[in-house]
Amino acid sequence: MRQTIVAGNWKMNASKEAVNTLVMGILSGMADVKSKVIVCAPFPYLSQAEALATHSQLHIGAQDINVNASGAFTGEVSADMIKDFGVEHVIVGHSERRSLYGETDGVVAEKVQVALDNGLTPLFCIGELLEERESGNTEAVVSRQINAVIDRVGIEAFKNIIVAYEPVWAIGTGVTATPQQAQDTHAFIRSLLASHDSDIAQSTPILYGGSMNPANAEELIGCEDIDGGLIGGASLKPDDFLRICKAG
Ligand code: 13P
Repeated sequence: MRQTIVAGNWKMNASKEAVNTLVMGILSGMADVKSKVIVCAPFPYLSQAEALATHSQLHIGAQDINVNASGAFTGEVSADMIKDFGVEHVIVGHSERRSLYGETDGVVAEKVQVALDNGLTPLFCIGELLEERESGNTEAVVSRQINAVIDRVGIEAFKNIIVAYEPVWAIGTGVTATPQQAQDTHAFIRSLLASHDSDIAQSTPILYGGSMNPANAEELIGCEDIDGGLIGGASLKPDDFLRICKAG
């Protein structure tokens, strides 16, 4: 039985005041939440968010890491640095990192490895562009993205990986994949993992991301192979986020 996981990705949205309001708002409604809940804050706010969430069920994550341990990499942040703040999760390979910052499948696979080597749980993001879906290439794209990581870290490593399927055309657009579209791709992802190891495929959490909101969360998370959500916009509103957390 896979536990439902709901993760918020605040992206580049926050201020000291907003972090306070968001974390306190989420904590105030966590009592009857059964899902595992993670919020991924921008680097400067990790410390504040972690301090506010101490001794609670709320987990704090980061949104990226550099592959290097330390050194002359101006502007970058290492796995060790985020661990210093008690962070246990990190988003890797988000489509915005892939498209805006040129992260290739190879770079993403290396980041997954670095996260794992440092005892962090990667939220490993995959997903196809609109033109890739329209040309019937969704399965080929997600296969390529997943195989790059399997080739690098091996299937056993998926015991410590959370997969997030985020069709790029659904991110921030208000256009959500239908439950059937999402379920079909999630089932395909699980079958791909199962072709390597069926037990690991059954235990790997596969989250859906892309315009998930309180109105559609229950139906999406109710699908057999959808184990929760990676939430962008709606994670910035504590009430909406909590409603999604309670949908699982
Ligand atoms: P939205 O929920 O705003 O579509 O963003 C999804 C996402 O990119 C989460 O990582």
